[in-house]
Amino acid sequence: MKTAIFPVLATSLLVCISCVFAHEVDTYDFLMPNVWPHKDELYLCTPIRIAPTTNYYIVGFVPQASMHTAHHMLIYGCSEPGSNGTVWDCGEMQNNEIDDMFPTANPCGSGSQVVYAWARDAPSLNLPKGVGFHVGRDSSIKYLVLQVHYMSRFPQKVTDKSGVSLKYTKKRLPRQAGVILLGTGGYIFPNHVEHMETACTVMEEKVIHPFAFRTHTHSLGKVVSGYVVRRSDRGDEWKLLGKKNPQLPQMFYPVVDKTPVRKGDVLAARCTMNNTHDYPVKIGATNNDEMCNFYLMYWVENDTPLKRKYCFTNGPPYYYWENAPEGFNRIPDGEASTL
Ligand SMILES: *[C@@H]1O[C@H](CO)[C@@H](O)[C@H](O)[C@H]1NC(C)=O
Ligand SMILES: *[C@@H]1O[C@H](CO)[C@@H](O)[C@H](O)[C@H]1NC(C)=O
Repeated sequence: MKTAIFPVLATSLLVCISCVFAHEVDTYDFLMPNVWPHKDELYLCTPIRIAPTTNYYIVGFVPQASMHTAHHMLIYGCSEPGSNGTVWDCGEMQNNEIDDMFPTANPCGSGSQVVYAWARDAPSLNLPKGVGFHVGRDSSIKYLVLQVHYMSRFPQKVTDKSGVSLKYTKKRLPRQAGVILLGTGGYIFPNHVEHMETACTVMEEKVIHPFAFRTHTHSLGKVVSGYVVRRSDRGDEWKLLGKKNPQLPQMFYPVVDKTPVRKGDVLAARCTMNNTHDYPVKIGATNNDEMCNFYLMYWVENDTPLKRKYCFTNGPPYYYWENAPEGFNRIPDGEASTL
């Protein structure tokens, strides 16, 4: 009898500990409503309105798409959606092109931020324990908008329901997730290796804990690297957050350095691009253009994420770290461009 007590106690203790942390996780399939991509390079958006009386915390993302169909998928958090329709064309509307099938609008009408991104058959993303994207009642995220960039026109009568299954809980989580997107505009001259660079000083009185990063370019990207720059009289300390060959699956990877980022630190990113064409390539929305993106996912404890969601510069030939207003020193020129 006596010997039974310890195991029983131990078991109930274990059960109890897991009780404290356990939370019901439900799944919502956030998918395109059987759309027909009627032309190449189409960007379509579909929204969900989050029940306004409830707080939800999204703790995981399970992609339901293939890279043969979708070039990329993004989930935006919005205060207002870009349209009140169920599906709209949310491309960059190059050349003021009018879509003859779907209304055109941005993903968000207001309060735009990226909460998830997928490309190249990246697998599921589960946030660390106790971390969730807060959406709904007390969050500025009232809508989620799924954007799918379709590669090419579908045959007649073939429709698509690519999307993402959201794992969520209604239980309040102590750590809220946020994403800041670093990127550039600019041009890459023909037959030229170019550095597309951006940097922003954190101005908010918050402690942010980086945990994952994702890179995105199109075909000319060689290396994308992200740094925290800690500044002092002794010089700038460039701490690598992460770097990746953007031709690998463009999923969120764990950061190299989890040291908290504070007010006064600088977030910086560089994309090293090799334009092997004999014509210039610009930053833009289509597959013939390029992109230079570094997403940093982080959590804050008992606080709300950064108000700042984007950190963009004009890129080359206008902006480089070297001529940035911050007056950087000790720029890790070689390291930032090699894997
Ligand atoms: C959506 O509907 C609301 C309420 O009718 C309106 O205020 C808002 O302007 C509409 N948004 C768009 C993008 O049409
Ligand atoms: C850029 O591409 C050219 C042509 O393929 C190649 O010779 C060169 O080594 C590449 N440079 C870098 C830095 O990738």
